[in-house]
Amino acid sequence: MNPTDPATTLLHQYIAQAPADSLWWVDENILLIPEQRPGIRAITNRYDLYQQLKARQWQVTFNDFDSGQILPASLSCVLLRLPKEKALVHYLINQTARLLRPGGELWLIGDKSEGVRGFNKRAAERLGGPLSEHKVSAGLWFARISHDPQQAGNDLDDQHYTETRPVTDRHGYSFISKPGLYGWQKVDPGSAFLIAELPTMLNQPFPLSGRVLDLGCGFGYLSLQTAGTQTQLTCTDNNAAALHCCQANLEAQGILAEVVASNAGDTLQGPYDILLCNPPFHSGFATNLDLTSRFIAASARLLSPQGQACFVVNKHIPLEQKAQRYFARIRLYADNGQFKLIHLSQPKHSQDAS
Ligand SMILES: C[S@@+](CC[C@H](N)C(=O)[O-])C[C@H]1O[C@@H](n2cnc3c(N)ncnc32)[C@H](O)[C@@H]1O
Repeated sequence: MNPTDPATTLLHQYIAQAPADSLWWVDENILLIPEQRPGIRAITNRYDLYQQLKARQWQVTFNDFDSGQILPASLSCVLLRLPKEKALVHYLINQTARLLRPGGELWLIGDKSEGVRGFNKRAAERLGGPLSEHKVSAGLWFARISHDPQQAGNDLDDQHYTETRPVTDRHGYSFISKPGLYGWQKVDPGSAFLIAELPTMLNQPFPLSGRVLDLGCGFGYLSLQTAGTQTQLTCTDNNAAALHCCQANLEAQGILAEVVASNAGDTLQGPYDILLCNPPFHSGFATNLDLTSRFIAASARLLSPQGQACFVVNKHIPLEQKAQRYFARIRLYADNGQFKLIHLSQPKHSQDAS
C-alpha cells in the first residue's frame, strides 16, 4: 500500500477547499483520512474507514452508500475519488444528481488507467452541467461537473446497485448477492477449493459443530457450505454490502448466526473453535499484504487454545511465513497450483506475539 498515493493527496487538497455543505463518498481507495472539515459529511461502505473517520471526528455514516438521510437538492458539492467498480461509480453519480442543488458541483478524481475520462463525460451527461477537467500529473485527472437540472440526462446504468438478487454462478451454485461486494457474481475458486478439502483438513464432517468464525465472510459462501443448526456461527466483514448479503443468504437457508461489522475481527471477542478465512490482499487498487498479516493476528487472538484456523490464499502470498509470529503449528495442507490451504493451530498468546 502506498500512503503517498497521488490521488489521495489531491483529494485531501480538494477536501480542504470544499464548501461546508458538501458530501464525501468514501470507498476503499482512500488510503489516508485527512483532518475533519466541519459541515462536510462522509458516507462509507467500509467499516475500517468508518472507524478512522470517527476517530478524526468526521460526521460519518457506515452503510452501503445510502444517502436517504440527506435532503434532495441540498448540497453544494460532492467529492469522489473514483471507485473500482463501474456499477458503483454510476450509482454514486446518479445519487449525486439527486443530492446537488442547481449549480452544485461533483468533484471527481481518478486516473486515466481507471477510465476516469469516460466517467467524467458520463457524469457531465447525467448532471447536465458543463465539465471542466484537467490533467494534474502523469495519468491523474481532476474534474468539476456542475449540476444543471434543465439539461440533466437519465440515470446511468448502475445495475440496480441497491438491490440484492439471486445469482447462479457457472457451476450452478445459487446465492443472494449484489454489486458493491467482492466478486459478487461468482464463487471464489480459492474458497471452493477450501470447501472441498475442509472436512478432511478439520477431520470433521459438515455441518460443523462448535463455535465457528467466518472471517471476511463476503456474501457468506464458506458459512453457507459448512454451517447447520448445531453451528454457533459468527460472520464478519468490513464491507456493508457483504454483511447485508451474508445476512440475507443465512436467513434464506434458515441458519442462525451473528453477522457483525469489523475491521479484521477487531470488534469480536471470541473464543472460536474453528475459523475459516479467505483473506483479502487488496485495498482498492493497491495490494496490501499488511491486511493479510492483520487477519492472521486476529485469528490467533480469537481462537481458543485448541482451536484451528483454515486459510486459503493465492500461492504467492507468504502466509506461512507471516503466521510464524502468531502460531506454533503451521501446516501447508494442500496446493492446487493456484491456491494453497494452510492449517494454523496452537495460537501464541497475543502478548507473546507482540
Ligand atoms: C477474498 S474475499 C472472501 C469472501 C468470502 N469469505 C468467500 O469465501 O467468498 C475477502 C473478504 O474480506 C473482506 N475484507 C476486506 N478487508 C477487510 C477488513 N479489514 N476486515 C474484515 N473484512 C475485510 C472483503 O470485504 C471480502 O468480503
